[in-house]
Amino acid sequence: MCGIVGYIGRRQAYPVLIKGLKRLEYRGYDSAGVALITETKGLEVYKTKGKVADLEAYVEDKDVTGTVGIAHTRWATHGEPNATNAHPHISCSGNLALIHNGIIENYTVLKEALQRHGVAFKSSTDTEVLVQLIDYIQQHLKTDLLTAVRLALRQVIGAYAIAILDRNEPNQIIAARKSSPLVVGIGDDEFFLGSDASPIIEYTDKVVYLDDNDIAVLRRGAKEAEFVNFDNEKIEHDVKTVDLDLGQIEKGGYPHFMLKEIFEQPKSLRDCMRGRVNVEANNVVLSAVIDYRKELINARRYIIVACGTSWHASLIGKQLLESICQIPVEVEYASEFRYSNPVIDSRDVVIAISQSGETADTLAAIQLAKERGAFIFGICNAIGSSIPRATNTGCYIHVGPEIGVASTKAFTGQVTVLTMLALALGKARGTINNTDYVNLVRELDSIPQKMEKVLEQNDHVRDISRVFTYARNFLYLGRGYNYPVALEGALKLKEISYIHAEGYPAAEMKHGPIALIDDEMPVVVVATQNPLYDKLMSNIQEIKARNGRVIAIVTEGDEKVKALADEFVELPQTIECLEPLLSTIPLQLLAYHIAVQKGKNVDQPRNLAKSVTVE
Ligand code: G6P
Repeated sequence: MCGIVGYIGRRQAYPVLIKGLKRLEYRGYDSAGVALITETKGLEVYKTKGKVADLEAYVEDKDVTGTVGIAHTRWATHGEPNATNAHPHISCSGNLALIHNGIIENYTVLKEALQRHGVAFKSSTDTEVLVQLIDYIQQHLKTDLLTAVRLALRQVIGAYAIAILDRNEPNQIIAARKSSPLVVGIGDDEFFLGSDASPIIEYTDKVVYLDDNDIAVLRRGAKEAEFVNFDNEKIEHDVKTVDLDLGQIEKGGYPHFMLKEIFEQPKSLRDCMRGRVNVEANNVVLSAVIDYRKELINARRYIIVACGTSWHASLIGKQLLESICQIPVEVEYASEFRYSNPVIDSRDVVIAISQSGETADTLAAIQLAKERGAFIFGICNAIGSSIPRATNTGCYIHVGPEIGVASTKAFTGQVTVLTMLALALGKARGTINNTDYVNLVRELDSIPQKMEKVLEQNDHVRDISRVFTYARNFLYLGRGYNYPVALEGALKLKEISYIHAEGYPAAEMKHGPIALIDDEMPVVVVATQNPLYDKLMSNIQEIKARNGRVIAIVTEGDEKVKALADEFVELPQTIECLEPLLSTIPLQLLAYHIAVQKGKNVDQPRNLAKSVTVE
């Protein structure tokens, strides 16, 4: 949700900033802008509605020289996406330019107070209040920028990652963070800023992750970045090394990040299981379960909190943990949980699942659960992000950066970690017998290979998608472990093709959705061979009796469903609880190909952002 980049050093800043914005464009693409201290004119700000490419076109004939600058790509919250509301925002005096990711909750009060003192606002954003407030303090108290920022932020309620340039102090960038991510990259005589490390890793692998209420001062020529709090007390930060290579954040020959990430899944799951699943020893080892065995195995109840695709993975996690570990599990939308006054205490374990590790509602749910004494376990992808830092322990999914806005490999990574967690806890609690345990460990290990077989059917799924591009509605059905897969399949289609789609537990169809079925309604049914197979057969009969069009996901060798379905995709046989890892892939591919046929921007669907750092 909004991407921030900054640079100060020996290089020309503009190319670094533009490249950085492109890497962060998954966070929002409503407008883009850049502020530079140029060699001839001083502080210059260029901004435009649209994507980073639009900004590049806009600045073509402009002065983009200079070795210090900040840049922003926006996902609009307050104020429509236009050039005026685009960042950077400039203060009344024309001295300051500021970029912001987050929401200033008390901006109306601050804005009215500043207006009473004659400050004229240009935009309808919450952000502008920050730059005007800092400028006002600077002018009236005759202070330097750092002091003005410290004093201003004391009055601000809300979430922010900000970066500011001052034309009168051209050899520094000041940045600050509260509840929105910000990373400082440390090079040789140069500093970088990013909402995550992706704009930075090309230049340095040394980074500092800012904590809440930190202010960073990046001075030209300084050996080290300085960090202070609002009281100007120095803060020491460890410099961390990021382990991310450039290939991971580029398309690598695929037309879209989403397709690349779908095809990466066999590899990403091998990475996810590396050092954890050991088939020689028939064992699953998770260090978090070893280190926090007592807290995890003695819990009276698990509550999983998440949003979006991560919430769908949570529903699969509930079934895994309940059946393998015999622990009662509840799954909550983080956004509902945080306002539900939940009955929760120190006997509960809260599992927070988040690809980005930055989702504001999930973070808030963690804070609430912590206040009530629960033990917090995180399942995240982005290393060093806010959620893993807020938890007691957890597991990274290690699937590599996910850039396509529609989540794919993170979902299968989350389900894999949940499976490993259930196995490790089930063994520790003695709730799974050795034969089942060993079979599951072996089968889990073979899933990447089976995924490769599913991916071989990509062309076949593309052909199916051509038949259904016309559809205005889709229904997705599944049962048991495949019910969340149906929800996830429907979400994928909605997100990127803008076709209305609903996921349902198949047996519930007759309580409502069946009324929608006619000869124009495609129904995707996950009908694999598991104990619910016969029930699903009946559901398919019910659809066909009403002339619905069935796209069935079946187990290899199945003849009965194939005979009934209009189209089908085959999956290798696996153990029931591992089926989602395979059955989700044709649904990802189907959504992808339908969106491509319809000419939609698959990696940057309208109105969405990958990382939702606002409520
Ligand atoms: C956004 C993304 C989804 C994601 C959800 C939760 O809506 O577009 O793909 O599933 O946020 O994000 P998280 O990073 O917490 O998993």
